[in-house]
Amino acid sequence: MAETMNGLKRTHYCGVLNESNIGQTVVVAGWAQRNRDLGNLIFIDLRDRTGIVQLAFGSSTEKQIFEKAAAVRSEFVLMAQGVVRERESINTEIPTGRVEIEVTDLRVLAKSETPPFEITDNTNVKEELRLKYRYLDLRRSEMQNALMLRHKIVKCARDYFDENGFWEVETPILIKSTPEGARDYLVPSRVHQGKFYALPQSPQLYKQLLMLSGYDRYMQIARCFRDEDLRADRQPEFTQIDLEMSFVNEDDVMAVNEGFMKKVFHDVLGVEVKTPFKRLCYDEAMERYGSDKPDTRFGLELVNLSDLLVHCEFKVFAGALAAGGSVRAINVKGAAAQLTRKEIDKLVEFSKTYKAKGLAYTRLTAEGESSSFEKFLKPEEVAALRQRMNAETGDVILVVADQDSVVFDTLGALRNHLARKLELIQPGTFDLLWVTDFPLFEYSEEDGRYAAKHHPFTSPKLEDVDKMVTDPGHCYAKAYDMVLNGTEVGGGSIRINDPEIQNKMFQALGMSQEVAYERFGFLLDAFKYGVPPHGGMAYGLDRLVALMLEKENIREVIAFPKVQNASELMTQCPSFVEEKNLEELSIAVTRREEE
Ligand code: AMO
Ligand code: AMP
Repeated sequence: MAETMNGLKRTHYCGVLNESNIGQTVVVAGWAQRNRDLGNLIFIDLRDRTGIVQLAFGSSTEKQIFEKAAAVRSEFVLMAQGVVRERESINTEIPTGRVEIEVTDLRVLAKSETPPFEITDNTNVKEELRLKYRYLDLRRSEMQNALMLRHKIVKCARDYFDENGFWEVETPILIKSTPEGARDYLVPSRVHQGKFYALPQSPQLYKQLLMLSGYDRYMQIARCFRDEDLRADRQPEFTQIDLEMSFVNEDDVMAVNEGFMKKVFHDVLGVEVKTPFKRLCYDEAMERYGSDKPDTRFGLELVNLSDLLVHCEFKVFAGALAAGGSVRAINVKGAAAQLTRKEIDKLVEFSKTYKAKGLAYTRLTAEGESSSFEKFLKPEEVAALRQRMNAETGDVILVVADQDSVVFDTLGALRNHLARKLELIQPGTFDLLWVTDFPLFEYSEEDGRYAAKHHPFTSPKLEDVDKMVTDPGHCYAKAYDMVLNGTEVGGGSIRINDPEIQNKMFQALGMSQEVAYERFGFLLDAFKYGVPPHGGMAYGLDRLVALMLEKENIREVIAFPKVQNASELMTQCPSFVEEKNLEELSIAVTRREEE
């Protein structure tokens, strides 16, 4: 049977003990990291969330305690009382490495089976195993550190927004399904047979209603749910730092948020970020970086070659231009030695995953030149192209010809890929910027209509109101995204507060008055009663934490994340439910996944 703490009370965390504690009697508690039994001496590393301290047992230790220590195995839960003394062999690797505890009382509070993997930071254990035993994985100091910093970031957000007059208000988790955006998670109602709640994709409509209700400044650490395909920076449930403000314009929202970034980087990481941030309008971001979330920590900017090639005879280029597309390129400066033919072949394959039909190149090595396309061009075209690309010996020029969307996607992705491959990014740098002036709409090939690029409550630029219905492709929005190291960490907009413009918006989206009313009637009704100008934004908290801690995947900063196929490996959810639960809900399952 396990022992109890009876009579012992913890006085110190393990990781805080140092030379100033020498001579003191202390009580520590935690998990046995490892046990070194040297026969007449035993050392146990005891671990809690603050770190590790060494427990020592030797000739002066009572026999019964010494025997107990000898039986301790990894991950046993211990409480130990003893006197702090200077250590004979100093361990400079850990903060407590100059001291140890000469144990006078030891309690084994719980035993442990041998864990499926060792609880250590330099782990190369497969992520699947880590997630199956997440409760053990979470014992690793790397995970504890990440979640501690996440806590600090959240606390900093609450403090900052409180200091700036924001109130935290909770909004519902069971809400009305309002299609638009990602797919909803649905929850069946038992009381209202056949009806469903949806889990919120964000608190968007509620926070706008709070502005209408006069709350002026709102914030919430809000859980959001989206049934979409997962990626490294996407989870089906994730957390936003969500906020909304009344009587503001874009600059006001951006200024408050720059202030938040300044504080959170300073308070949590001790890093000073410069404000105001760089701003790039959407069109410029696409032209220069091929992305609406550009990583500007390195060059490799896109160059438009279309005007030089309008009369060229190379079918690939001429064809793309004739079809209304473009020919653009990047110059990978001085990379000819690294980007061998074989490497370029890999880049071609990479490009094809972005729907490019090919990737043309010119390699200018000291030994000679090779190009996949220059032979098809006139000498003056080659000369003009090289001049515009500022091409020199040692460079590699990569060219894509296609519709703009494909060219931007491909070269934008190639930039990021090459920057990593060629190590052009200095670690520990944080590149924060705004992308502004987004298009109001985006054409959906799938639905054959325009959809809101941000959401249908985003205000158009005033000068574009008149063409919302007649020329939606050329309307811009009062929308902005915050980009950190090439990831969208947050986004928001000034909202529509004029019912007439809101109606136009629905019209432009091909939504009849009836359908709009069916979906958003409560909002449209509310907006009849005096709605202040307002706007806001939301951060992806998981992404912000991951980027601040330089983690590749947001799963590393979420306690219990889901995997690619949206399941959780530890609890094995989602799972089948009992027939009687389904009956109660009048739900018939027509197709089941294999068990
Ligand atoms: P948006 O949809 O851009 O805006 O979401 C805001 C931020 O949330 C993060 N994010 C995600 N993080 C992890 N997993 C996901 N599946 C995921 N989806 C989004 C991104 C993104 O920038 N209501 C609006 C905000 C507003 O207009 O105020 C909204 O939800 O970092
Ligand atoms: P081909 O004449 O098909 O051998 O093509 C010559 C070069 O153009 C090859 O390097 C192809 O990879 C490249 N290429 C083909 N399609 C495109 C495209 N859409 N954009 C850029 N390069 C392309």
